[in-house]
Amino acid sequence: MLSFPDSFTWGVATASYQIEGAVGEGGRGPSIWDTFSHTPGKVRDGDTGDVACDHYHRWQSDIELMKDLGVSAYRFSIAWPRVVPDGSGAVNPAGLGFYDRLVDGLLEAGITPYPTLYHWDLPQKLDDEGGWTARSTPEAFAEYTEAVIDRLGDRANDWMTINEPWVISHLGYGTGEHAPGHTDWSEVWPVTHHLLLGHALAVERIRDRVPNARVGIVLNLEPQYPASAHPADIAATRLADGYWNRWFLDPLAGRGYPEDAVADSGWDQAQIQPGDLDSIAAPLDLLGVNFYSRKIIADADLPATERPGPPPEPTAFTEMGWEVYPEGLYDILLKVKTDYDFPPIYITENGVAYADSLVDGAVEDDDRISYFQRHFAQLHRAIESGVDVRGYFAWSLMDNFEWARGYSKRFGLTYVDYETQQRTVKKSGEWYSRVIAANAVGGT
Ligand code: FCB
Repeated sequence: MLSFPDSFTWGVATASYQIEGAVGEGGRGPSIWDTFSHTPGKVRDGDTGDVACDHYHRWQSDIELMKDLGVSAYRFSIAWPRVVPDGSGAVNPAGLGFYDRLVDGLLEAGITPYPTLYHWDLPQKLDDEGGWTARSTPEAFAEYTEAVIDRLGDRANDWMTINEPWVISHLGYGTGEHAPGHTDWSEVWPVTHHLLLGHALAVERIRDRVPNARVGIVLNLEPQYPASAHPADIAATRLADGYWNRWFLDPLAGRGYPEDAVADSGWDQAQIQPGDLDSIAAPLDLLGVNFYSRKIIADADLPATERPGPPPEPTAFTEMGWEVYPEGLYDILLKVKTDYDFPPIYITENGVAYADSLVDGAVEDDDRISYFQRHFAQLHRAIESGVDVRGYFAWSLMDNFEWARGYSKRFGLTYVDYETQQRTVKKSGEWYSRVIAANAVGGT
């Protein structure tokens, strides 16, 4: 058995738009994901988050579900358009009330809340004014943060600002796969800066109000491996790492944006104002790392015949088409430890979509158990190697709205029947409970 440190936190994660539903209730304003999902052709099968898992009405039984799983922490996100329906200006007490009750319910159940302030549901009104391309958005984010902290900061102590700035910027503004669906790469780089600035302003506001709070950001880090030992592949890999990982880690570590990737992108950094980089580099209390896969990078101009040996062969893929590569979790954690001096790490997301089916009231998802088991073994190895990882949040508590893929992809430890909203804990959920209870996992 591989035992984890005594105080290790085992949790589950979700995000507001993916589970809440009730998009028109409690004074919530529209978000970019409402607009996007209601635009034909944007989300598979025309799915929307209108109802999702109906968590807005079922939060009490969802807390019971977590209690039964035995988790000690819950990472959820707060919907900005519930709290400030127009993005800036008037605060909606009913929206705050929902999270207030949720936090109290979690604490009563002995589950520590880990709220994330932004998991992609930008108020539509702010998008109309430029969204994350505009500097007014990080400022509005700071105001919204104040409203949330003033209401919840006496009970919730562990805060995440922004979830996955890489995904928000690249998929939201570059490829257009996510809301707001722009396809203009020249917007992507300013957006990354405004996201990090929003993070920084939120950190300042939280610290002003709750000095003892622990605050961090959540990055989706991905290790990149060269397709061969050829120098061109190695150089391409370094650049890919610059775009994916260092673009966010470096400024948070006080090094500014990575010169190689910035030069390659053509960004003139005109949006950086005096003081911004210092604010972004303010020390954090925790770093959230979401881990799903790896990339093998080949220099596009290198003829295959010049490659010394064939590229590494991926062995298995998930329903998302993402390669299963648990060693990548170890590698990226070691890289963060070796190259930087960050505070304790939490794995804020890790998990897998497989083609689950509910048969006779049960989901026998042995493939998901194997996925988790192999990732836990690598996580354990990283901790043994001296990486300070304090906790792990499985993605996800339950099946939910998987963004552009709608409800077709199931990541849950719990199966959701979207017709009846019935939740059924999968075999992997029961297995995870045993891992939590033992604070240990069997070796591979
Ligand atoms: C991450 C998102 C999360 C979920 C997983 C599968 O990028 O943060 O909301 O969709 O992917």
